[in-house]
Amino acid sequence: MSQTAPVGPKMPPEIARRRTFAIISHPDAGKTTLTEKLLLFGGAIQMAGAVKARGERRRTRSDWMQIEQQRGISVTSSVMTFERNGIVYNLLDTPGHSDFSEDTYRTLSAVDAAVMVMDAAKGIESQTRKLFEVCRLRDIPIITFINKIDREAEDPLTLLDQIASDLALDLVPMAWPVGMGTDFRGVLDLMGNKILLPENGERGASFGHAEALSELADIRKIDGIDERIADRALEGVELAQGALPPFDLEAFREGHLSPVFFGSALKNFGVEQLLDALAQWAPGPLPRKATQRTVEPGEDQVTGFVFKVQANMDPNHRDRVAFVRLCSGRFKRGMKLLHVRDNKPMTVSSPTFFFGQGRETADEAYAGDIIGVPNHGTLRVGDTLTEKENLKFTGIPNFAPELLRRVVIQDAMKAKQLNRALDDLAEEGIVQVFTPVAGGRQILGVVGQLQFEVLQSRVANEYGVPVTLEQSPFELARWISADDPAKLQKFVDAHRGEIATDRDGALVFLAESAWMLKYKGEKFPDIKFAALRERG
Ligand code: G4P
Repeated sequence: MSQTAPVGPKMPPEIARRRTFAIISHPDAGKTTLTEKLLLFGGAIQMAGAVKARGERRRTRSDWMQIEQQRGISVTSSVMTFERNGIVYNLLDTPGHSDFSEDTYRTLSAVDAAVMVMDAAKGIESQTRKLFEVCRLRDIPIITFINKIDREAEDPLTLLDQIASDLALDLVPMAWPVGMGTDFRGVLDLMGNKILLPENGERGASFGHAEALSELADIRKIDGIDERIADRALEGVELAQGALPPFDLEAFREGHLSPVFFGSALKNFGVEQLLDALAQWAPGPLPRKATQRTVEPGEDQVTGFVFKVQANMDPNHRDRVAFVRLCSGRFKRGMKLLHVRDNKPMTVSSPTFFFGQGRETADEAYAGDIIGVPNHGTLRVGDTLTEKENLKFTGIPNFAPELLRRVVIQDAMKAKQLNRALDDLAEEGIVQVFTPVAGGRQILGVVGQLQFEVLQSRVANEYGVPVTLEQSPFELARWISADDPAKLQKFVDAHRGEIATDRDGALVFLAESAWMLKYKGEKFPDIKFAALRERG
């Protein structure tokens, strides 16, 4: 069961020891709590509780922004780096709320593995399924963490069965709960043949110590575990191991099989096992596809791509930070890199790393790491940086928005600030901005309503421009293209009132209804209407 990840012959050890991953979950499953505990066990924070404002459920619409400001590390850092037992972990934060899915999708383009957290009482929920599908599209290996086993929960076998059939994924349990809810007595670590017990044998208390077992049945001899609870756990393990496939590292790496841990983030059960699993099985930095070729992490040349941009991270400095995932090589501060889209060199003189609550200047970074590059808007999501090669990394999508609104400025003198604000927030992925070719007010597009509220609040607070949003005559936006440029031009000329450009200058058709979109699609078979567009 304990196959260790092979290290590629060309991968320098400094690179091979990196694990870059994200946690995917449905709101309330325990992502914030688990993040906090991973950082705690990874030594990045001194005290649990430092990851503030847990839970999407508290993030009501009106107080989202304040919460955002108070949240501290889980939002402002976006990347959390810590080192444990010689492994460097880069944990990329993903906004859990479904309204921010675009940002999440982009973040998933920068990881090599994911941890899927579920509530043991609920199993798979809508957001978990959606995010899982994105991971599957990218063949991202997934470790499953079934959380909250200290509470009343579904029977573990039923849960495994539900997840496996729902996601068409092979599962291999690496841990097993001994009782759940009021019966909870500990967790069997099936890899290490040991049991994790609460401190002082207290029921429901936090993880205290692990006790080695010469065989699993020895749990019967442990104080406080009565026959009924022990029998049930042992029977469960036997049934699961009989019915489920053995662990297969290759199948895991290909995204077909997921090792499963049962634990309690709140009570510290299973957190270290999860870190060990990431160290042992999750891949180090993976090769990344560019239009021209595939880039191997062990190559000498430094390459990377921007997967996220955040404006005003520090409100006092109005800075703008591009988050760059390094794909190959060893980066050094002060390096001159080629900004491929602009075909211009840029000196990266003050790159940042994100440690726990703080930022630190990055003197050196390796493939797999995320560095923050402060800039004044030259770097955009999807941009590639190299030492000199003309490369373009692929796989950063834009999704067609699901809601459209027209932006109305209250003070016409502030049009310039508004444009700057919209440009910044569009770059962050908070909103998409469409400019009608025939003139008139800009149209804003989002995936979820909450984004509009964040937008209004940020435009007012950070740029001093109060705006209102009014209904747009359009419901849907699709990127248009055609093999024959003359046909595309003809379509644009005939529909000028319904054509806009996005901030990259790409043409967009705005449809007043789904029916109209379908109708145009049938009437103009040479025009492609796309709901997804690659950035850059
Ligand atoms: P999220 O980021 O995925 O939205 O979830 P979060 O960690 O905020 O957890 C949601 C709620 O579930 C919190 O409770 C948290 O304490 C609780 N929780 C997380 N992990 C566990 C666990 O392993 N066992 C148990 N029993 N509870 C867990 P809350 O009461 O809503 O918030 P709080 O008052 O604890 O902050």
